[in-house]
Amino acid sequence: MAYVSLYRKFRPQTFEKVIGQKHITRTLGNQLKSGNISHAYLFTGSRGTGKTSVAKIFARAVNCEHPLADGSPCGECATCRELANPACLDILEIDAASNNGVDEIRDLRDNVKYMPSIAKYKVYIVDEVHMLSPQAFNALLKTLEEPPEHVIFILATTEVQKIPATILSRCMRFDFRLLTIDELIKLLINAFEGIGRKYEYDALVAIAQAGQGSARDTLSLADMCISYCSDEVTYDQVIEALGICSPELILKLTEDILQGDVDSALHELNGMYEQGKSIGGISREIASMLSCVSYAKNCNGANTFLKLTSEMFDKVRQVAAKTENAKILHAMEVFCYLDGELRYSTLPKVMLEMAVIKACEISSDFSQDGILKRIKAIEERLQRGGTFGASATEQAAPLDGKTVWGKVITALRRENNSARVLLDNYTPRCEVRDGILFAYFADPIACRVVSTVADMIEAAVKKEFPEISGLKILPEDLHDEADVQIDKIKNLAGESRVNVIGGKNNG
Ligand SMILES: Nc1ncnc2c1ncn2[C@@H]1O[C@H](COP(=O)(O)OP(=O)(O)OP(=O)(O)O)[C@@H](O)[C@H]1O
Ligand SMILES: [Mg+2]
Ligand SMILES: [Zn+2]
Repeated sequence: MAYVSLYRKFRPQTFEKVIGQKHITRTLGNQLKSGNISHAYLFTGSRGTGKTSVAKIFARAVNCEHPLADGSPCGECATCRELANPACLDILEIDAASNNGVDEIRDLRDNVKYMPSIAKYKVYIVDEVHMLSPQAFNALLKTLEEPPEHVIFILATTEVQKIPATILSRCMRFDFRLLTIDELIKLLINAFEGIGRKYEYDALVAIAQAGQGSARDTLSLADMCISYCSDEVTYDQVIEALGICSPELILKLTEDILQGDVDSALHELNGMYEQGKSIGGISREIASMLSCVSYAKNCNGANTFLKLTSEMFDKVRQVAAKTENAKILHAMEVFCYLDGELRYSTLPKVMLEMAVIKACEISSDFSQDGILKRIKAIEERLQRGGTFGASATEQAAPLDGKTVWGKVITALRRENNSARVLLDNYTPRCEVRDGILFAYFADPIACRVVSTVADMIEAAVKKEFPEISGLKILPEDLHDEADVQIDKIKNLAGESRVNVIGGKNNG
């Protein structure tokens, strides 16, 4: 007889056998018992969490002659036995993923009016309903609006966001959740005992962890491991069969990344290539390990759900203790993004290496002090009209007179200051010396004219550049020696700013 895969062999037949979805099976069971059932249901949630299985149980339960105490079908009455026959058309499964479902939904619309052949209700299970084309959705909507009394719809999807609101509002919605590692281990124990196969507990933990919350994926992986192992299914063989890197290696690589040790990280990575580990696998395992580190850092008693060996958990906790949350989050972001991108990349290896380097390269100081310092530097820079991304040396460089003048003019224009009209016509040569802005005009007339609005310009200079304390407007030929002299004289006279009107001769 052909081999029946575990996930088909162990499809739950009663609500009680459905793991981890008590919030759903209980509500459905109560509806069945009270006869208070809806005509359209929507089952959503990740793949392999029980949507189709529960839909099938419900479809039989609603027709069963002697349902069990929890509302499940008995599996023994005449109707239950008839419905178990795949040829029976009272429970119809439509796969919307094939041909966008247009023909099927049209048939459905034409056929709903016919009574069920043996059962009380005709149940349509529309799987992957998000794949329906817009036309098919419209056709379905018509039927959903006024379904005949004897018809129940169960729509199932992994992508509820793709379902039109018009359909959503006509259905009773149930969200299937991912299964916990404990629940998956329970599922595996049940399957291994069911087929009489010996196993090491740790082997099941490793399979459950690789299943990522999906019961079907977990059972499929178990199938692979069973075929790989000759007799007892052991931890070491499972690691080999699934191509999983040893958790120690992954933790070492993760630690390198979090410590910013690119050199060591790339060495670790190449070691993994040599062992034949897949790029996607390595990437996902780093992401999972980062999630463990984050749990260990932020959540008390995290290992009750991480299920790492206590030795491993201790190591993870040590890495977590010496790493800032911001670094862990940055690395998680990098690897989650990578997982999506790898699917489309023709250079997955390069992408993984890029991600490792990118995740390593956050040398910034994320302590509160470090962040405050950086905010202060940005503020100062903005006040001076600077731009982002300048190096420390650039920040310390003396202010360039031309830039200062340009910024001041822009500010005056922005404020619609009357001084701007004059300044648009005259451009001086500028220098910043000893915290004073010197503006030299080649044309003595210009110098005189601009001097009439010196106060306004100076106010703008001080506002834009707090480190500049004054402004001097001078004719070009009064450069150097002369203005220094004038400075001295005016200082003696108690003036803080010099407005020399006209040229040297007028001074
Ligand atoms: N909650 C569960 N409890 C026990 N077994 C489950 C559960 N969910 C899934 N399984 C197992 O996985 C198999 C597939 O489940 P099912 O078809 O119901 O998933 P699904 O949510 O419809 O997945 P998909 O979104 O891929 O259609 C079942 O035959 C069963 O072996
Ligand atoms: Mg399904
Ligand atoms: Zn029955």
